[in-house]
Amino acid sequence: MGTDFITLASSRFSVRRFSDKKVEQEKIDSILHAGQLAPTACNNQPQKIYVLQSEEALKTLQKCKYSHFGETLAFLVCYDSSLCWTREFDSKASGDIDASIVATHMMLEAWELGIGSTWIMHFIPEAVKEEFNLPDSVIPVCILVMGYPSQDAVPSAQHGTKKDMNDMVTVL
Ligand SMILES: Cc1cc2nc3c(=O)[nH]c(=O)nc-3n(C[C@H](O)[C@H](O)[C@H](O)COP(=O)(O)O)c2cc1C
Repeated sequence: MGTDFITLASSRFSVRRFSDKKVEQEKIDSILHAGQLAPTACNNQPQKIYVLQSEEALKTLQKCKYSHFGETLAFLVCYDSSLCWTREFDSKASGDIDASIVATHMMLEAWELGIGSTWIMHFIPEAVKEEFNLPDSVIPVCILVMGYPSQDAVPSAQHGTKKDMNDMVTVL
């Protein structure tokens, strides 16, 4: 039996220090499967996910972002702008939202399997597009750096700070 959702979500924190132990292919497959199960607008499934696991790919990734946590695996989560749904009234497109739900599924499945991650938005999109030869229509949304947490990996100081429910919720 898996962990219940609130227990899983409350125990997760952004892991910014990884051990050298490689994530097994079976776990990588489960994490990708969790991304496949995510809801997307109109079920268009515009997500495109690049699995960076070779030493070369991980080294190339370092050129595209500012923080380096010794990750042994990273998922570059993108969407294809030619596939996502667009709202007709104001042309708002679903791609960022779809890809973010996909990435959230992956992050939580990883945690359930004992794999830590940090969501990275602070990357250079042009560098990512060029280094990994993304087609023009493929837009990178986030990099999920992953790996087994190092023994001394701890939550950041701000991890536990949550706003009051009253600041978050309006009941009408
Ligand atoms: C959209 C988004 C962008 C983020 N970008 C970065 C980033 O570029 N670098 C980083 O170290 N953490 C990044 N994070 C992680 C957040 O800082 C972290 O989730 C937040 O401080 C709460 O901490 P916790 O994940 O430990 O609960 C990002 C998280 C989200 C959701």
